[in-house]
Amino acid sequence: MAFLELKSLNAFYGKAQALHDVSLHVKPGEIIAIVGANGAGKSTLLDSVMGMTTTTGDILMEGKSINQLSTAEIVQSGVGYAPERFNLFPYMSVRDNLLVGAYTSRESIESNLAIVHKLFPKLKERQHQETSTQSGGERQMVSLGRALMTSPRLLLVDEPTIGLAPKVCGEIAVALKRMCDELGATIVITEQNANFAMTLASRLYVLESGVVKAEGTVDELRGDARLTEAYFGA
Ligand SMILES: Nc1ncnc2c1ncn2[C@@H]1O[C@H](COP(=O)(O)OP(=O)(O)OP(=O)(O)O)[C@@H](O)[C@H]1O
Ligand SMILES: [Mg+2]
Repeated sequence: MAFLELKSLNAFYGKAQALHDVSLHVKPGEIIAIVGANGAGKSTLLDSVMGMTTTTGDILMEGKSINQLSTAEIVQSGVGYAPERFNLFPYMSVRDNLLVGAYTSRESIESNLAIVHKLFPKLKERQHQETSTQSGGERQMVSLGRALMTSPRLLLVDEPTIGLAPKVCGEIAVALKRMCDELGATIVITEQNANFAMTLASRLYVLESGVVKAEGTVDELRGDARLTEAYFGA
């Protein structure tokens, strides 16, 4: 059974429709990527799983519909979200930003902090630093760490590499892979950077103007024109 399944999902902002008939699935323990250009609907898709948009269609976690649940209930049922960058509290410390994520924690806060510090030792060293003074890569680590503070079984990460140098992208990839391998998390990332997505994910969905234009394994989609079209335009 799929860990997460979207069935004919439509999402709306008022009368404007941002997702059209999107169907996808994520197997337990899998990392998948949603790839698409600016405005494709990537953030809307993740927001919709979190119950933060108006939708029709179905969202199932382990076969059970979650689209009637509140965002807090969705978090409590084991979904963590690292939204687009710069969603941290800039004038609070690294540690306090992590603790904000622990508000609905399903496990002990200290054990979750230990897990985050093991994955990102720098966040322990810099626990008293204000996030406003951190580099983009360090902030992305706080954002991922904060999402982990709820002990998610499913982790949604919006554009983990946006604006980051290749070396830092590599560090983020390693951390996400460890979250999957060591913590058993199932992971959905969104990306504009198709190359990064292909190094990390086992399968990709190409999103364009709110529509899934292509899907497949990395090997199936390598060199596929629809992948480049989604980014550069037809
Ligand atoms: N709060 C909102 N109100 C109205 N329209 C919105 C809202 N958020 C997003 N949209 C619209 O929905 C569409 C999809 O936006 P979304 O932010 O999901 O794209 P994205 O793929 O995440 O883009 P980016 O790569 O720039 O983050 C766009 O046309 C956008 O203008
Ligand atoms: Mg976005």
